Amino acid sequence: MIGIGLLGLGTVGTGVVEILEKRQEELKSLTGKEIRIKKILVKNINKKREIQIKENIITSDFEEILNDKDISIVVELTGDLEQSYKYIKSALNSGKNIVTANKAVVSKYFEELSSLAAEKNLAFLYEASVGGGIPILKPLKEELALNKITEVQGILNGTCNYILTKMFNEGLDYKEVLKIAQDMGYAEADPTADVEGHDTLRKLRILGTLALQGKIDENDILLEGISKITSFDIEQIKKMNSTVKLIGEVKGLDGGFTALVQPTIIKEDSYFANVNMAFNSVVFTGDNVGELKFYGSGAGKLPTANAVLGDVLDIINGTYRKGNPLGERKLRNLNTELKSEYYLRISLSNEDIFKSIEKISREVLYKNDNIAILTKEIEYLEIIELISSLGIDKDKYFIARVLK
Ligand SMILES: NC(=O)c1ccc[n+]([C@@H]2O[C@H](COP(=O)([O-])OP(=O)(O)OC[C@H]3O[C@@H](n4cnc5c(N)ncnc54)[C@H](OP(=O)(O)O)[C@@H]3O)[C@@H](O)[C@H]2O)c1
Repeated sequence: MIGIGLLGLGTVGTGVVEILEKRQEELKSLTGKEIRIKKILVKNINKKREIQIKENIITSDFEEILNDKDISIVVELTGDLEQSYKYIKSALNSGKNIVTANKAVVSKYFEELSSLAAEKNLAFLYEASVGGGIPILKPLKEELALNKITEVQGILNGTCNYILTKMFNEGLDYKEVLKIAQDMGYAEADPTADVEGHDTLRKLRILGTLALQGKIDENDILLEGISKITSFDIEQIKKMNSTVKLIGEVKGLDGGFTALVQPTIIKEDSYFANVNMAFNSVVFTGDNVGELKFYGSGAGKLPTANAVLGDVLDIINGTYRKGNPLGERKLRNLNTELKSEYYLRISLSNEDIFKSIEKISREVLYKNDNIAILTKEIEYLEIIELISSLGIDKDKYFIARVLK
């Protein structure tokens, strides 16, 4: 018998319990073993659950899981950053394998937890943390290990993609669509981590670090979210026969890398333009394989739980990449070499602002109550500096990179 300690019984935790129940036979034939959830850690043991759970397996005391000798795999699905770090670290130190879906904890403590697991000869797997139900990390760590990856691009956040798709298709304003997304369960009550791009950034940090085999930190990534986009911006973007997506991108360059998460204007017939609603997609470019595309559900109860259980199966069967998958290349951040055309809209109109903005402009798209321009090839931070030197508040502008 393989004993599992489940940390968290929310959306994903419930999905894990459901799949384990309905696929017992298949699991037995795939592993030759019985797999049983021995304990489930939650915050509030009195909460009413949507599935029936035997009372004696629910606990709010992590020590019960840590001290249970029959539990060899801890599946962390709490979403709590610092607490889950403590849980994962103590579980590894107690000889238990880890599966997590928590991109925040993987991103913040990637190097430390990867080397601790390797040192202890244990698994630390996190397939569900990037791309939810899409198998991305296992192919990257295993099947693509002989490639030199030169580029990773992705639409990595379903909430942002849903909002941008709806705004584009239905001409609605940001706030209206956010409300719909919240009502439909696509966006959290506090959507900050999604719409400001932090969630995409964490996933890109994980992907980029694995792909380039050297550390790319959260602070290494240029970040611009989508929360300031308006229906006016969408109109301008449509006039360019284009659409807009929040894209994360890491490029490997000689001795270094560039990394960004930015709203990105892409032609309507390009690949990412057809990744719509809550779907995610990642494209790798490798020297042997060329371009490889992954597409599917980036979140949701069953897709995410499926990825979690894929990791569990790999641990039981020993079919995961052993040792520390993080490389030791020392990579220089070359973001200052990154120049692009940008779309810039400022919701203030006076001649002084216009004159300053005109200096970086290649084309003026609109000049009335708003100013909208396409910039020359320029560094993103140069635009930010110019805007802040003009005293323009954060909520008064929107910037998006333009891909040709
Ligand atoms: N939802 C998705 O589609 C999705 C997709 C990919 C990755 N993920 C990741 O999967 C993880 C879980 O997400 P979720 O949507 O299932 O979250 P959720 O619905 O909010 O559930 C969280 C669960 O963890 C428990 N919990 C929270 N903090 C805890 C703590 N400090 N100690 C013990 N238990 C704690 C909660 O207990 P109570 O029930 O008692 O409140 C709840 O059962 C997150 O890291 C998330 O980023 C989620």
